[in-house]
Amino acid sequence: MSDEAVAASPAAKKVFVRTYGCQMNVYDSQRMTDALAADGYSPTSEIGDADLVLLNTCHIREKAAEKVYSELGRIREIKAERAATGREMLIGIAGCVAQAEGREIIRRAPAVDLVIGPQTYHRLPEALKRARGGEKIVETDYALEDKFEHLPNTARTEIIKRGVTAFLTVQEGCDKFCTFCVVPYTRGSEVSRPVAQIVAEAERLAEAGVREVTLLGQNVNAWHGEGPDGQEWGLGRLLFRLAEIPGLARLRYTTSHPRDMDDALIIAHRDLPALMPYLHLPVQSGSDRILKAMNRRHTAADYVRLIDRIRAARPDIAMSGDFIVGFPGETDADFEATMQLVRDVRYAQAFSFKYSPRPGTPGAEMKAQIAEDVKDERLQRLQALLMEQQGSFAVSLVGRTIDALIEKPGRQAGQIVGRSPWLQPVILDETAGKIGDIVKARIIRVGKASLFAQPA
Ligand code: 5AD
Ligand code: SF4
Repeated sequence: MSDEAVAASPAAKKVFVRTYGCQMNVYDSQRMTDALAADGYSPTSEIGDADLVLLNTCHIREKAAEKVYSELGRIREIKAERAATGREMLIGIAGCVAQAEGREIIRRAPAVDLVIGPQTYHRLPEALKRARGGEKIVETDYALEDKFEHLPNTARTEIIKRGVTAFLTVQEGCDKFCTFCVVPYTRGSEVSRPVAQIVAEAERLAEAGVREVTLLGQNVNAWHGEGPDGQEWGLGRLLFRLAEIPGLARLRYTTSHPRDMDDALIIAHRDLPALMPYLHLPVQSGSDRILKAMNRRHTAADYVRLIDRIRAARPDIAMSGDFIVGFPGETDADFEATMQLVRDVRYAQAFSFKYSPRPGTPGAEMKAQIAEDVKDERLQRLQALLMEQQGSFAVSLVGRTIDALIEKPGRQAGQIVGRSPWLQPVILDETAGKIGDIVKARIIRVGKASLFAQPA
């Protein structure tokens, strides 16, 4: 092949992908990267080398959405520099900002060539072709039955081996309509992926050497589908099925809603050793008044009782949660109720945010929005408490022997990094085992964000 032919070959095209927000975006970015590989794009980590820049965006809070526009300012300059040397650069916006803002993005940032929402990724190659022809493309309309189109298609493409852990989307969208949240609007209504597809993808991942799979969904425990036995399965039954796949040693799922934690799922936590003893179960607030205004459809006591039942089934389970401070109308007493709930539950890990009014959600229209300085102060107090709990959970592991799944070489020579059942990185000497092994590790010391261990 001549040099010219190489330069002209589609394999020479490069794509730069940046991902914001949740794990589902991480998963979608990998899928888009795989799909683009079939279209001749190879990934690059240098924006300046990219023929296509794809920002996979998040709309959950204002800060996340605004990041995209500041990033676009920088990318526009790089695009202009490339154009000056006769090289084209297409800019694509994917993810939830794309779905929420659509054509408005191109109005605000005319350098953008393509806007594509999460439900239409299967149309990406076609949309790109048109964008390369000079058209500005906005792809955000979809039919409900399209929703998982992009998944089976890309699942048929070879899985590029990325490591011993993987995400697997089983459910998308949300019908809960919490009054602060954009997800029901950006990701649409709840759709579950069929059992056979999920099992086939999990088997393929296991064959590629994956030892741990995290099932993803905006409301993952609302997943349901018809099992091969003709019965209606929930997430609990699905987890039992996935645990049978040879090689898959660890299962996780995220994110769950308290209303959808059914008995079968709690039984899975009790009876499935492969299901890791870690549960991300957001509560958002500890005040019944605020929970009601948020349309969470449960009380603080319902939540605490639920956790008691889960802990009775699986005593070593570590809890994780999400919290919002400063929701409209939140009084000092409401906030204190959140602090009390945190003390009662004890979290091993948590994420907490200042309420951010999102256009189009009921919360944004509510009176009694809370002043920024009040939100700041509450967030600080809550985070201090959560950090303290996180720290004491880690310290409680010192001296204990735990299982660590070895994932990757450490940052320092001679070290290897594993993961605890509770998601903490575990630093070991590299002689402890090889990547993909599950080893017994005795925790000797707690680091800033990790545990230091010796082979037991
Ligand atoms: N403001 C602040 N936090 C929010 N979250 C969702 N919407 C908002 C908002 N408008 C948080 C919730 C959710 C997590 C993913 O993000 O805690 O569980
Ligand atoms: Fe948003 Fe509530 Fe749905 Fe979670 S359950 S995605 S917070 S609307």
